[in-house]
Amino acid sequence: MNKTLETSNTSGDTKKTQTSDLKPSNSSSNVNSFSPTAIQEELKPNEELHDEIEITYTDFHDESQLKIVQDIVDKELSEPYSLYTYRYFVYNWPDLCFFACHGERYVGVIVCKLEHHQTSWIPQGYIAMLAVEVPYRKRKIGTALVKMAIEAMIDRCAAEIVLETELNNKAALTLYESLGFIREKRLMRYYMNGVDAFRLKLWIRDVTPQESSEDNV
Ligand SMILES: CC(C)(COP(=O)(O)OP(=O)(O)OC[C@H]1O[C@@H](n2cnc3c(N)ncnc32)[C@H](O)[C@@H]1OP(=O)(O)O)[C@@H](O)C(=O)NCCC(=O)NCCS
Repeated sequence: MNKTLETSNTSGDTKKTQTSDLKPSNSSSNVNSFSPTAIQEELKPNEELHDEIEITYTDFHDESQLKIVQDIVDKELSEPYSLYTYRYFVYNWPDLCFFACHGERYVGVIVCKLEHHQTSWIPQGYIAMLAVEVPYRKRKIGTALVKMAIEAMIDRCAAEIVLETELNNKAALTLYESLGFIREKRLMRYYMNGVDAFRLKLWIRDVTPQESSEDNV
């Protein structure tokens, strides 16, 4: 896989990078052999992050990254997912799964899919999981991952993108709303913990009459 992804520092300066050129910072290894081992280790209490750190972004290109997705999401999201669910997303839509890395450490992930809407031929993107490790939050990493996923879904002709989030998840709601998502629906007791959800939607383009025709279903 060889496509353009972003590298940014946490002050927001970004540059475009070919995935084939992407390396974890301070590493001489090639992206295809990038297999960090320290992801599950917590930062030590006295280990401080510099104010400005360089974050690189890469996509799913190696089976070993399935465990990385699972570890980050299991740790950071309240909803439990089975291995089957992780496999379903990343093996069907590997090009819609992106990682944020700090050096050799994976610190964030977004997992998406793109399918036709249930009752039409409208190509609909879906953000299934988004998580950034606690010490790395509030550095625009989540925003960068969502923007990357939106761009990838636009490239694949998505007409809209949807997701659900807990209605008390202020961080996620603020992040998505700042990118243009709107609250479409409240879903009662949607999550296994009994919490309600909001379905958020980002409209990208008008659908063609053919796409919206129920005759196509
Ligand atoms: C939601 C999450 C991915 C955000 O990641 P992040 O990298 O910290 O987000 P960003 O730095 O890009 O934040 C973008 C904006 O979102 C809002 N935001 C982020 N964290 C926030 C918080 N804790 N409280 C209120 N607003 C917050 C802010 O407006 C922020 O912009 P600002 O820093 O200029 O104020 C992260 O908090 C996380 O992993 N949470 C646990 C998992 C989760 O809830 N995932 C979403 C499921 S749908």
